[in-house]
Amino acid sequence: MAPPPPPSLVVVIVAAACALCVCRAAAGGGADVLDRARRPEFAAWMAGVRRTIHERPELAFEENETSRMVREELDAMGVGYRYPVAGTGVVAAVGTGSPPFVALRADMDALPMQEEVDWEHKSKVSMKMHACGHDAHTAMLLGAARILHERRHELQGTVVLLFQPGEEVGTGAKKMVEAGAVDKVEAIFGLHVTVVLPTGVVGSRPGPLLAGCGFFEAVITGKGGHAAVPHDSVDPVVAASSVVLALQSLVSREANPFEAQVVTVTRFHAGEAFNVIPNSLTIGGTFRCFSNEGFMRLKRRIEEVIVAHSAAYRCKAAVDFHAGGRPLLSPTINSAALHAHFEAVAKETLGAAGVDGAMEPCMGSEDFSTFSEVVPASHFYFVGIRNEAAGTVHTAHSPHFLIDDGALPYGAAVHANLAMRYLEERRRQEPHSHDEL
Ligand SMILES: *[C@@H]1O[C@H](CO)[C@@H](O)[C@H](O)[C@H]1NC(C)=O
Ligand SMILES: [Zn+2]
Ligand SMILES: [Zn+2]
Repeated sequence: MAPPPPPSLVVVIVAAACALCVCRAAAGGGADVLDRARRPEFAAWMAGVRRTIHERPELAFEENETSRMVREELDAMGVGYRYPVAGTGVVAAVGTGSPPFVALRADMDALPMQEEVDWEHKSKVSMKMHACGHDAHTAMLLGAARILHERRHELQGTVVLLFQPGEEVGTGAKKMVEAGAVDKVEAIFGLHVTVVLPTGVVGSRPGPLLAGCGFFEAVITGKGGHAAVPHDSVDPVVAASSVVLALQSLVSREANPFEAQVVTVTRFHAGEAFNVIPNSLTIGGTFRCFSNEGFMRLKRRIEEVIVAHSAAYRCKAAVDFHAGGRPLLSPTINSAALHAHFEAVAKETLGAAGVDGAMEPCMGSEDFSTFSEVVPASHFYFVGIRNEAAGTVHTAHSPHFLIDDGALPYGAAVHANLAMRYLEERRRQEPHSHDEL
């Protein structure tokens, strides 16, 4: 809960009619933004949006109907936007239209899987499901848009609202960046629902939160021949078997034990016949790491080990880190300053019991990190949806995944307050630019 403004602030308002201070007084505490979001009509509207999107899941870069619904809702509010951006993406803006620019991001795509939950708003499309909560993220960002629009005259700059396509394939954020969606943005916040936290609680941590994620595929080539005459061949199967074992030492012998890393070989495709040494084969897998340095080192070492180890067995190897168009996603690393801002604003909005400021990192990854590569300061946080009574206990990407719609107002309110308070703080740091607006 925010304390009432100190007496000195009231004096300033009266004496100087300072627009900033009037806004501060009018904005009130963060809790009234939560009250707004929890009003029955508001909460029901967000839940309705979420359920409509849930019934019509659309895969990466095919979010046509979802995008149209987002635009219709923004039109109804009177919020302006740019479309199309990166295909189905929408970039809306609320506020003065001038700097500073702070961004809030939601993703819109679903997963190619079958929903196994029988409920009223179950996916109506076979083999497509919102199993990662992106329907909830979109509804929460629309909720934040409405709150911000209602308070647009109090905003001390511009809030950019990013509705991005294609998070699950890892390239949606990249396309948004390339389309200039965050060109003027100096800080960006993203959120994700989680069953790790109960409904009503949000959480994050400073520094590394989500892992960097890469995939590799290697073609190892020897010289095929008769299995009974191995000395006339160069056997890639033995070479690759040794490569798989050698890769295990990257984490166990080269990484600091206090730095979590993963290298897993998941594919090994070789040969057909029982009596033929194949000419070549492919292996593939994934690697994860929580620091950019560690991630790039791991990538370099995976290639070195595969190539050099194959050479020791007289084989040639070519390593591809973008097989099947898969991107490399860097780790999601939270700015310490923005995390302090998040903790303060979330406590103001939800109370101290509603905030976990020191969550464990998570080995999953997010293409939100692509925004972090170009925006000076970035922060990602989780919004709890665990509610045993509602049965919302299954992790994302499970066919049983279910959202507690009671969580939507918390995400919308925290998102809106993070942006509003950010702009206020920035304006306080730069009193001289005050008159320019
Ligand atoms: C989505 O819209 C684009 C552009 O209008 C169109 O080319 C595409 O076929 C649509 N996709 C689906 C799945 O409707
Ligand atoms: Zn996902
Ligand atoms: Zn997700």
